[in-house]
Amino acid sequence: MPETVKILVVNGPNLNMLGTREPETYGAMTLDAIGDKCRAVCKTHGFDMEWMQSNSEAVLIDTIQAACNKFDWIIVNGAGLTHTSVALRDALALFTGGVIEVHLSNIHAREEFRHTSLITAIAKGAVIGFGASSYTMAISAIAEMQEES
Ligand code: DQA
Repeated sequence: MPETVKILVVNGPNLNMLGTREPETYGAMTLDAIGDKCRAVCKTHGFDMEWMQSNSEAVLIDTIQAACNKFDWIIVNGAGLTHTSVALRDALALFTGGVIEVHLSNIHAREEFRHTSLITAIAKGAVIGFGASSYTMAISAIAEMQEES
């Protein structure tokens, strides 16, 4: 029997405030509700999913390092660190599995400082601008890639 696909979802700074944080930009769902939705989608595919959020760059990096050889995929919303953190990008680059970048909002349609992502170039792909569905679309993409492999 093939091994269960293991997905780690990493959420960066301020995403714990979803639900009340700028709902016109990020939607009304809380991060916990998005996590529940992702868990349900993962279940339909038979994937294991772990979900984490931190406001600390160091905790995010430690978590990614510890995920090496334990998870097959990282789905990452680096939040503000997407645009600034070489260290977060370096951690994702050393990850042994695949990386998919997600954003709730369309960062390219917003302020210019959000147009640059340091993560995209080391990711397999990115899902941007579909709200909570960006996360579930990333999970579906993994399911399709698994079927093809
Ligand atoms: C975000 C976009 C970032 O620019 C912002 O700093 C966030 C959330 C998104 O999911 O749309 O915190 O990553």
